[in-house]
Amino acid sequence: MSILEGKKILLGITGGIAAYKCAELTRLLKKEGAEVRVVMTEAATRFVTPLTFQALSANPVSTSLLDADAEAAMGHIHLARWADLILVAPASADFMAKLRAGMANDLLSTLCLAADAPIALAPAMNQGMWLNQATQENSACLEQRSIKLWGPVSGEQACGETGLGRMMEPQALLEQIEWFFSPELLSGVSVLIDAGPTQEAIDPVRFVSNRSSGKMGYAIASAAKGAGAKVCLVSGPVALPVPAVDEFVAVKSAAEMAEAVISRAPGFDIFIATAAVADYRPTLIEGKKIKKKADTVVIALEKTEDILATVSALKKRPFCVGFAAETDSLESYARGKLRAKNLDMIAANKVAGSRGGFESDENALHLFWDGGEQLLEMAPKSILADQLINIIAEKKHESSI
Ligand code: CTP
Repeated sequence: MSILEGKKILLGITGGIAAYKCAELTRLLKKEGAEVRVVMTEAATRFVTPLTFQALSANPVSTSLLDADAEAAMGHIHLARWADLILVAPASADFMAKLRAGMANDLLSTLCLAADAPIALAPAMNQGMWLNQATQENSACLEQRSIKLWGPVSGEQACGETGLGRMMEPQALLEQIEWFFSPELLSGVSVLIDAGPTQEAIDPVRFVSNRSSGKMGYAIASAAKGAGAKVCLVSGPVALPVPAVDEFVAVKSAAEMAEAVISRAPGFDIFIATAAVADYRPTLIEGKKIKKKADTVVIALEKTEDILATVSALKKRPFCVGFAAETDSLESYARGKLRAKNLDMIAANKVAGSRGGFESDENALHLFWDGGEQLLEMAPKSILADQLINIIAEKKHESSI
């Protein structure tokens, strides 16, 4: 039996060309046995007719808050209570702004405001609109309120531009919905994650650091939480909102991160080391600001402790997953680190010269473990994080039976 059998899905469609793809999504959901009710905004009805969705969902389509007939059949509050999941696809920039502001001036925004059900958005818009600070702030704020963001993905856009802003394809959205309804894979499991860069002080005003944005680690923390785990996130300095985790520890230097992680690790089932920990730090931190006198300055560096290797060597050791950011010879370096640090799994990705990597919203990962491997194709980091958590949960389970 499909996991979607009997699940009640309220599909909200806002005005965007990707609205036509929701016809296929509705068909796929119905095929899996889900009950689908469609709510369209006024603008959405200009792209696809309500009749299309009525035929595919086998339910009347609601479009207006003030429609007496529709309200008599199933009032908007009742509709909000009915759903197991509300998916707004495509979610326009305008709709996301409205949702953030808590507006309720049409049926779909009113439903979202009244709903107890989880809400997911599949954003679709021009890449410039997506990257605009307002949309970025809106999406970060909505995620913080536990609204799920599925996509957008990058590619060619209807307006002729190329970039991040395309709605996820119906099949990929279906998989996200199935994943959402899957039993909590990490229920009762505790996960420790380190993320972001570290800053190694040179003097009171200067430091050495790296380009890690922390996005992958934060997405993994949210995915682990979504899978039912108890999550502790130890983070270096990043410009991201704190995700909803059980414990959040902010650190700056590699030494602080090592202390926070190693002291906690024996109490955790899984450790995922996504942090770009500085490999070297200045041997000496000047007590006063270094003045500009000499033409050249040499800063001596010393090795920092390898947090992951230390955790993996602990007597009471969690299942250890490392990350390897490489510019070349991905597999041989990654497998080398897997062995050298005695890891259970390593997730390798290419940095520099290709899509994905440190500052990007997307990534591709190549996973290696003893006797196996799996490639996770280029995808938004939140989607990749769900896939990775899925595989880690499976491997962890196999290792403990
Ligand atoms: N790592 C760590 N502590 C360090 C350095 C790295 O815990 N001091 C972890 C990272 O979080 C990552 C993995 O080790 O999960 C691999 O890190 P990476 O820097 O790519 O490997 P290194 O062993 O430092 O080797 P190199 O820099 O030479 O590639």
